[in-house]
Amino acid sequence: MITKKKICVIGLGYIGLPTAVMFASKGCNVSGVDINSEVVNLINSGTPHIDEPGLILELNNQINSGNLKAFDRPIESDVYIIAVPTPIGSDFKADLSYVDKAVESITPLIKLGNLIILESTSPVGTTLRIRDALAKKRPDLKILIEDNSNADINIAYCPERVLPGRIMEELSLNDRIVGGITNACSKKAKELYKIFVDGEIHITDSKTAELAKLTENSYRDINIAFANEISMICDDLKINVTELIRLSNKHPRVKILEPGVGVGGHCIAIDPWFIVESDPTRAKIIKLAREVNHNKTEWVYKKILNEINNIKPKVLRIGIMGLAFKPNVADLRESPAMEIALKLALNTDVTIILSEPNINKIPTEFAGLNIYLDNRENAFEDADIIVALVRHKEFFSMIKRYEYKNILDFCGLLM
Ligand SMILES: NC(=O)c1ccc[n+]([C@@H]2O[C@H](COP(=O)([O-])OP(=O)(O)OC[C@H]3O[C@@H](n4cnc5c(N)ncnc54)[C@H](O)[C@@H]3O)[C@@H](O)[C@H]2O)c1
Repeated sequence: MITKKKICVIGLGYIGLPTAVMFASKGCNVSGVDINSEVVNLINSGTPHIDEPGLILELNNQINSGNLKAFDRPIESDVYIIAVPTPIGSDFKADLSYVDKAVESITPLIKLGNLIILESTSPVGTTLRIRDALAKKRPDLKILIEDNSNADINIAYCPERVLPGRIMEELSLNDRIVGGITNACSKKAKELYKIFVDGEIHITDSKTAELAKLTENSYRDINIAFANEISMICDDLKINVTELIRLSNKHPRVKILEPGVGVGGHCIAIDPWFIVESDPTRAKIIKLAREVNHNKTEWVYKKILNEINNIKPKVLRIGIMGLAFKPNVADLRESPAMEIALKLALNTDVTIILSEPNINKIPTEFAGLNIYLDNRENAFEDADIIVALVRHKEFFSMIKRYEYKNILDFCGLLM
């Protein structure tokens, strides 16, 4: 058993913090590390900086039990888990600088028998890049050994596939893939995750595990792109897309997803680009799907703009329903609805009333603009146009009250 091992989790965001808490809840001695000192202080005071059901309670339990403590630099441990951001740059190429810095920060601490795990979603080859970086900086350790039989340390890629909003449940319930740089590394990683994972743990090599994670998110992106493309075709042909998809899904082997205003968040809108970067000639559908989903946001914005300009007398106020990147979460990261609201606020003179039931403060991006957050449903009574951008559960009953109004429904609330 390795449940009492010392584990250091680097990067305490949506993935790192719940993971650190899970290991701590099983009795491990966990150091959480973040370069953001505000995050470190909040966590040590038992206050998560992210909104995730069940997290605050378990975080408090683990801080109070002494099993989890946050630091601003890595602490010598038996296991290091890297869960830092892997964004894309303006060239749509992976920015691995956070991973590189995280690896640098643990390099001097690594000792015989350590297990190093990358959890950040990464382009194929990143785990081997970590192996090479460590081999270069720590020639005293035996790392570059093909069958790993006598290697001094173990390195593996172990991606996460949790759904924001259900992270605490899915961390233990979901099946996981672990891909070591050798089979021995995979076995060590599997043994570690067995501490809290109830789902099956599937072993493979690091490159397959890296591509599996990217493939899963590209699969989602392509299927959403299909729904989004159909929605725009329906608009051209004056067909109700919600009705069309409902009927098409009566086919026993058809399951079309819901169209929306684009794809946001930190995963699906980014990860497919890592495949495109690795194999630009082959990754045609993957790239096209990214473009369709990206362009859908601009298409929605232009539709709203047209409506504002075409309606007479002049449109003075519009009500926007939903800002989050997907239904029933507070997460605004890379949200297409945010992008649309911001563009409307910057490029029109209408007053924008926002309804986003999952937040209670207007995002700082809107400071100084003619846009305000109003949770009172009757705010929409004054709006000349209501624009439905996100399918939050609270909106279904709410929109019924305004059916007599001019509603632009981009997320299927009206069916
Ligand atoms: N959020 C998800 O649902 C999800 C799901 C699966 C995979 N992922 C992947 O997991 C990784 C982390 O994502 P996230 O959503 O947790 O990110 P996040 O932005 O919520 O958190 C990352 C944290 O890492 C910290 N950090 C950055 N560099 C650091 C360093 N060198 N040392 C210590 N801390 C550092 C940041 O301050 C931040 O608090 C990404 O690669 C992401 O693609 C995310």
